[in-house]
Amino acid sequence: MVDLGFGAAPWTAVELADRLGRVRSDVRVVGVEIDPARVEVAAPFARDGLTFRTGGFEVPLDGADATVIRAMNVLRQYDESEVPEVWARLVSRIEPGGIVIDGTSNEVGRIASWVTLTTDGPSTFTISLRLADLERPGIVEERLPKALIHRNTPGERIHALLGELDRQWSYSAGFSAFGEQQRWLQTVSALKTSGWPVTGDRRRWRLGELTVPWASVAPA
Ligand SMILES: C[S@@+](CC[C@H](N)C(=O)[O-])C[C@H]1O[C@@H](n2cnc3c(N)ncnc32)[C@H](O)[C@@H]1O
Repeated sequence: MVDLGFGAAPWTAVELADRLGRVRSDVRVVGVEIDPARVEVAAPFARDGLTFRTGGFEVPLDGADATVIRAMNVLRQYDESEVPEVWARLVSRIEPGGIVIDGTSNEVGRIASWVTLTTDGPSTFTISLRLADLERPGIVEERLPKALIHRNTPGERIHALLGELDRQWSYSAGFSAFGEQQRWLQTVSALKTSGWPVTGDRRRWRLGELTVPWASVAPA
């Protein structure tokens, strides 16, 4: 598991090693950063199953392929035109059955979205929102992956999805009486009924998530 571009502090890599270690004692998390000073800051947190190293999209793993490459808030610093090449490079670094996660979030991770990629190409698009205090789900428009953030305009599929999501959230307002989670579940169910190819089940939706196939939001 690679935490690519882990940032100024290694907390996400440390947390991944902690959490994944509970379900897979043999998990190895590697924090990779292009900024050597950040790797130095992270170095004292290295331990069994958690290492840090300097590197970029080539994802140096001493010849091994990754099972998962997570790149949160990394591609947003790049130009939209660079995304296809970066995706291809990252996908070339995963093993068969592995995934790349290219996502964007706000600072505390309460508004997030990501694209997953497999060796077959872009696979899914997910929105993940903290439901408490959520004014409207379309707020995720500020935190879309680089491949979509400039495409939230009329005529684009992502624009249609976010519009419909806000509409269904508004229609579902009455469900707030039972809690924001119920309102979200109703919103997602209604979105599905309206024809959007929503995947997953209530177990994931309950977390404030919504996943659709990439093809249903890919730029026109
Ligand atoms: C905005 S920070 C995000 C940190 C953390 N992942 C998060 O979500 O809070 C982006 C980080 O990506 C690193 N970065 C930028 N390009 C990179 C690349 N090609 N390979 C690895 N890291 C990169 C930067 O040095 C920076 O630390």
